[in-house]
Amino acid sequence: MLPPDPTSVRMPPDLLVHARSAKGFMPEDEGALLHRWARVQLAHGPVLEVGTYCGRSAIWLGGAAREVGGTVFTVDHHRGSEENQAGWEHHDDSLVDPELGLMDTLPTFRRTIADAGLEEHVVAVVGRSGTVSRWWRTPLSLLFIDGGHGVEPARTDFRGWAHWVMADGLLVVHDVFPDPADGGRPPYEDIYLPALASGSFTEVEALGSMRVLRRTTGGAGDPLA
Ligand SMILES: C[S@@+](CC[C@H](N)C(=O)[O-])C[C@H]1O[C@@H](n2cnc3c(N)ncnc32)[C@H](O)[C@@H]1O
Repeated sequence: MLPPDPTSVRMPPDLLVHARSAKGFMPEDEGALLHRWARVQLAHGPVLEVGTYCGRSAIWLGGAAREVGGTVFTVDHHRGSEENQAGWEHHDDSLVDPELGLMDTLPTFRRTIADAGLEEHVVAVVGRSGTVSRWWRTPLSLLFIDGGHGVEPARTDFRGWAHWVMADGLLVVHDVFPDPADGGRPPYEDIYLPALASGSFTEVEALGSMRVLRRTTGGAGDPLA
């Protein structure tokens, strides 16, 4: 199947306003890619995102669910990745729980999704990705991985989630940088390359740092080669 046509499939304008104003790390062209593919895939089963942060990408995915029906699950412990912690490049002090002294992006996420009117379509799963994936059993029409970008979190996300993509379902990976000069390696080396090497996935679109892979052998729950 060809990628959905970006000139004919567009985010509803009322939600575009929310996606643009939400805190987060999802450029508009890559968010629009998520929306287009989710519109196609949601007819076949739920979408799951790893890495909610404050809900920006969840709005793009949830917009598709509002239009065509279906559910988007989004998994995060809401304590932030390494680069979100105090002293790091992507720290936002307004997201720290003052009593605990820890990052807590959940309240901002809830408000963002409520303001966008997407509470019926986007379901937060609060917990460590590896803990949630260990108990997950539902085939996914689209898996979007944008969680921790270190080696271990990336490997855990790939091993824990990728085999739940259904036959003809999609694995979408963010921050894939084949050239080390452009950014960190784990999404490329520990998710994207192993997915292709498994022989279970075939690339169907690349845009910016997004890669869209289709599951072309095996089905949900079958181990990857
Ligand atoms: C790059 S941000 C996600 C950005 C988001 N998709 C957006 O559109 O703005 C990565 C998120 O992954 C979460 N995260 C990192 N490691 C995790 C883990 N092991 N389990 C659950 N969430 C994790 C962090 O808390 C952070 O919110």
